[in-house]
Amino acid sequence: MITKPKGTYDIYGKDALILEYVNTVCENYAHLYNYGLIRTPIFESSELYHRSVGETSDIVTKETYDFKDRSDRDLTLRPEGTAGVVRSVIENKLYGNKNDAIKLFYNGTMYRYERPQAGRNREFTQFGIEFFNSFETISDVEVISVGYQILKSLGIDVTVHINSLGDLDSRKDYTKCLVDYFTPKINELCPDCQKRLKTNPLRILDCKYDKENEILKNAPKMTEYLNEPSKERFNDILKQLDILDIDYEVDSNIVRGLDYYDHTVFEYIDDDGTTLGGGGRYNGLIESLGGPQIPAVGFGLGVERIINKLKESNTFNDISDDYEGNAEVYIMSVSDEERLHAIEISQNLRLNGVSCEINSCNLSLKSQFKIADKLKAKQLIILNNEDLKKGLVNVKDNATKEEQKVDESELVEYIIGVL
Ligand code: HAM
Repeated sequence: MITKPKGTYDIYGKDALILEYVNTVCENYAHLYNYGLIRTPIFESSELYHRSVGETSDIVTKETYDFKDRSDRDLTLRPEGTAGVVRSVIENKLYGNKNDAIKLFYNGTMYRYERPQAGRNREFTQFGIEFFNSFETISDVEVISVGYQILKSLGIDVTVHINSLGDLDSRKDYTKCLVDYFTPKINELCPDCQKRLKTNPLRILDCKYDKENEILKNAPKMTEYLNEPSKERFNDILKQLDILDIDYEVDSNIVRGLDYYDHTVFEYIDDDGTTLGGGGRYNGLIESLGGPQIPAVGFGLGVERIINKLKESNTFNDISDDYEGNAEVYIMSVSDEERLHAIEISQNLRLNGVSCEINSCNLSLKSQFKIADKLKAKQLIILNNEDLKKGLVNVKDNATKEEQKVDESELVEYIIGVL
């Protein structure tokens, strides 16, 4: 038997229903906040990720799926969505006029060669939004709100852990101070952190391995090194989050695992400590990839992590684990004549917006009743040759068990009336 690759998964049944629900909520919110869909390729040139996510990031050094195509091009399966969207914005000149808000959303699979564990897959899905052309704090706050409100409307409580990496000057001062702090202690940290001291000291704060180490906990805080404009900006964002009643916590350990961020960075963290999504501002990225100097901010939500969370909650309790679908109406037939009527009636119902199912597996009447219950059909249309000859069909209310004879020509109208 050929099995799925490690770190991937098949999604069907109840989980697929939850997935569809999450997608619908995410997309509805994207439209409510006026974001338009963008779809970019699942693979891009490897250089794109080296230059955006960062040469020294864990993603690029250890986690990308790199391959050569048959014409020897270096390609990479996308490990995240932002870089591809930025590439497309530059290539298609989507940035428009300065100060036009460009607001895009995407929903697609990403690939990271990580050690598979709960909530960490090699193929996973991100719903994300990216807001270009505004450096107003209103745009940071809007982006944070979209993710927060999506999670809230799905019934998931999160706290937004937020930090500011400040502007370039603030970050230079802070990085110097981190190097001074970590250098005498570096042998007590993991080999990756030892490398990070030289390549990207800020990343030490984000280390998954040394996360609980006192050395990390006592490290100087970025917020103490912000210069006045960066500090003012950050405080302004916090003020707006208060106005919008968004639950947040200033968390100086949020530095994020991708190189492109400046100023605001944030993560949505639930009550079990799971990070359901994260994002931030990346004002330098567009220019560093050859585009104009335009500011941008965005986030990505981990769709599978959201699904796992919803499965643990009561939200989908009334759907059985062996869910195989729903239909409002089940049409029962046994003989060939009955079956011909069934296909015609089912088409009429479906074209009038009523979901229905028919006996397409030559089942006995008894089995059809069972299936109808499983599908939670509210109305049963029970066909029999004698009634059909008179132009009549039997309709049974599956809750009250009351039966009615209905003229076949008035059936659709009748069903819509009783549903
Ligand atoms: P990220 O924090 O790397 O950010 O990923 C965002 C979310 O994707 C995570 O919070 C997590 O829920 C989910 N995720 C990441 N890796 C995995 C995995 N291996 N398995 C399952 N879920 C995972 C970004 O990717 C940025 N592009 C977000 C962004 C958009 N920043 C600005 N704009």
